[in-house]
Amino acid sequence: MIGNRDYIAVFDSGVGGISVLRQLRRLLPNERFFYFGDSANAPYGTKSTQQVRALTFAAVEEIRRTHPVKALVVACNTATAAAIAQLREAYPEWIVVGIEPALKMAADYFPGGRVGVMATAVTLREEKFDHLLHRFDHSCQIHKIPAPGLVELVEAGKADAPETEALLREILTPYAGALDALVLGCTHYPFVTGTIRRILGPQLVLLDGGDGTARETKRRLEEAQLLSPGPGMVEWYNSLEDPQILALSSQLLERK
Ligand code: DGL
Repeated sequence: MIGNRDYIAVFDSGVGGISVLRQLRRLLPNERFFYFGDSANAPYGTKSTQQVRALTFAAVEEIRRTHPVKALVVACNTATAAAIAQLREAYPEWIVVGIEPALKMAADYFPGGRVGVMATAVTLREEKFDHLLHRFDHSCQIHKIPAPGLVELVEAGKADAPETEALLREILTPYAGALDALVLGCTHYPFVTGTIRRILGPQLVLLDGGDGTARETKRRLEEAQLLSPGPGMVEWYNSLEDPQILALSSQLLERK
């Protein structure tokens, strides 16, 4: 029997989903969160769809085995693209919410505008993204921007390092002055917004799906009358089982 004090499990291939956890905590401060980062297997974004699906299911099964769960937030665009339909089918008793690139928001804000979507290779090649693209590519000009190597740098705690800025310059310089908005379609990327703004200018609008995902989670919990009366807390697990990655995780949660 599912109860309101059961956990909201938040899953990502690593520390990226903490950018979603920040929004969830802001909207749902009374909840018990269990954050599962699979950093031992990150990045997911360069793997095959089958591999991403298998890793996601292995992690979610581990969560189910060890915690009473009322909701699962897949705080990873890549895992959502590869496995969300199958997860909903396998865990019908849970509220299952996935994150996807915030293209709708971009199209609403910038009808006829120029929109970049930065995401992993898996997200950009999945059928789910194709559907999303075709819903909005008549209303704005959409550029797919893969960013290989960026997830690894954030996982290594190098979000602010010169090598991260160098990589972002290489990826983004061709788009300087050519975009109205940039969608951050991977949950690791909100940790490098400062650097992106330095490269593309402070006027560029950056959009990510974290806030929408948190709002949808809250709405679904309210609807099911499963909001927790409190107190709230966060419990962490990371498959690297290394104190350094847990220190980085708490640091990213507090980061502005
Ligand atoms: N954070 C994940 C996402 O939102 C993917 C990172 C990875 O490649 O593992 O897509």
